[in-house]
Amino acid sequence: MNYSEKVMDHFNNPRNVGEIENASGVGTVGNAKCGDIMRIYLDIDEDTKIVKDCKFKTFGCGAAVATSSMATELVKGKTIYEALEVTNKAVMEALDGLPPVKVHCSLLAEEAIHAALWDYAEKHHITIEGLKKPKTDISDED
Ligand code: FES
Repeated sequence: MNYSEKVMDHFNNPRNVGEIENASGVGTVGNAKCGDIMRIYLDIDEDTKIVKDCKFKTFGCGAAVATSSMATELVKGKTIYEALEVTNKAVMEALDGLPPVKVHCSLLAEEAIHAALWDYAEKHHITIEGLKKPKTDISDED
């Protein structure tokens, strides 16, 4: 299978792996197709609503690692509203593409970011326009 140089780079040197203590929002999702799991932590500035930090942990394949790494890089520095634009399509473009059979892996990062934003919005009693309740959030099953 052919992976782009960027995918291999983010797989070999994933950015932002880890946890954020007392994170503003945490989202955990699972991929029904393969059983892989992804968790994203967001540290959000209360006043500016800018994502100051973003970390991830995954029990997933190489494409899931690479897409999460890139997604966390893209989300950092954005507002919670702009973070919604970090779709799996945007992440794949930033990685110069993924093989078609691996496209579903890139959905994990998008869904985990959405789940973390949803968690943040719920805790702070706000609505983020355009954000839908995540279907696959399993964060309550710890
Ligand atoms: Fe499971 Fe890629 S095969 S996320």
